Amino acid sequence: MGEKTTIRPTNGKLGIMTPGMGAVATTFISGVLATRKGIGRPIGSLTQMGTIRLGKRTDNRTPMIKDFLPLADLNDIEFAGWDIFTDNAYESALHAGVLDKDLLTQIREELEAIRPMPAVFDHRFVKKIDGPNVKKGANWMELADQIRADIRRFKKEKNLDRVVMVWCASTETYMERKPVHETVAAFEEGLKKNDENITPAMVYAYAAIKERIPYANGAPNLSCDAPALVELAREMRVPIGGKDFKTGQTLMKTILAPGFKARLLGLNGWFSTNILGNRDGEVLDDPESFKTKEVSKLSVLDTILQPKINEELYGNLYHKVRINYYPPRGDNKEGWDNIDIFGWLGYPMQIKVDFLCRDSILAAPIVLDLALFMDFAQRAGMSGIQEWLSFYFKSPQTADGLYPEHDLFIQLMKLKNNLRHLMGEDLITHLGQEYYA
Ligand SMILES: NC(=O)c1ccc[n+]([C@@H]2O[C@H](COP(=O)([O-])OP(=O)(O)OC[C@H]3O[C@@H](n4cnc5c(N)ncnc54)[C@H](O)[C@@H]3O)[C@@H](O)[C@H]2O)c1
Repeated sequence: MGEKTTIRPTNGKLGIMTPGMGAVATTFISGVLATRKGIGRPIGSLTQMGTIRLGKRTDNRTPMIKDFLPLADLNDIEFAGWDIFTDNAYESALHAGVLDKDLLTQIREELEAIRPMPAVFDHRFVKKIDGPNVKKGANWMELADQIRADIRRFKKEKNLDRVVMVWCASTETYMERKPVHETVAAFEEGLKKNDENITPAMVYAYAAIKERIPYANGAPNLSCDAPALVELAREMRVPIGGKDFKTGQTLMKTILAPGFKARLLGLNGWFSTNILGNRDGEVLDDPESFKTKEVSKLSVLDTILQPKINEELYGNLYHKVRINYYPPRGDNKEGWDNIDIFGWLGYPMQIKVDFLCRDSILAAPIVLDLALFMDFAQRAGMSGIQEWLSFYFKSPQTADGLYPEHDLFIQLMKLKNNLRHLMGEDLITHLGQEYYA
């Protein structure tokens, strides 16, 4: 066995703050409240329902992850968030239409008490929506200071030991890395000068890191992956990670594609289309926000299939992704995949997947796990990019020059081996020879 890392115990309450209090955030908060009350189960959450094998298969040691690690208890969590709309979490959850009114009524009081703080928002970066609950400030730096003040107030008012932030706000328009994103000095200068290449998501990330609060980015836009913020996170010893919660169609892709590759089945086409009718769908109806999402969704197959190494099987793959805003569906998205594969002697076959999924139901457990694991990582002294949490993201953030791992099963192995490593347990290699000696 290795040496166990020193992990600061959970001494008191954890605050989870979400920029954005829409469908995902309120489904997440409601789920935690319902679980606490015993009227719901946290299905899909690795921290709450997952197990981890320790030692040999013959050892029969497979504890629950929450019993193996010193994670925050669900009863010790407080919530806060920011939004451009003034709806409290109950009103917003009703509006999102994800959860039944019956369930929401039973947690109504707690939800109503969670009122969004005024947001840092700029219509240039999210074109389809606008709202009244927005902070005012002379420049980005002043707005970052206001977010920092909100964090401190929340911590004091709720008597919190620790806080984490998970971005659950709308997808911002596509942005390439610019010189202002490259260094902390350039970025801070840009904040003061209201640089046009800085967006609200970066302002929240900056504020969190400066307050030594772990930050995870659930949307695909450029945020804590700006090099300046990676550098700042290392300096301030804060864990960060992103981006874009891996749910729905991309989750299916990263489950299916590793299987095709494992069996050396060729692929020459993968057409994915979606219809969804929630506010996220409306925002993504804007081509510039969709571009951000498209880049995030397209990269997945390339890194799983490695067409440069497997030219004959994957070198000629036509991959297309479409998102169509279709209000009647609300949060219940339908994602179709048509997959053209080929096998022995090049004979073609087709696979059709029709996933009638619920986006926020798939995203909520990810928010919870990320919040708990980010808090755990900080207590374990980890900082900077948390690549071991790639499991949760469509475009996992990695060090510059390092390609991300997209295969869901490799991601899970990586995550669990990191936990074993931190807790001083042997890593599991799946070699298996010891059973036959
Ligand atoms: N649901 C999923 O499966 C899934 C998967 C991957 C990523 N995401 C991303 O998660 C995010 C949230 O999704 P959702 O379905 O809850 O969307 P939503 O539209 O219901 O909620 C987003 C909320 O963010 C608010 N907002 C926008 N800009 C803001 C800002 N600058 N500060 C504070 N609040 C702001 C909006 O008013 C809205 O209430 C989106 O970016 C979406 O792309 C969702």
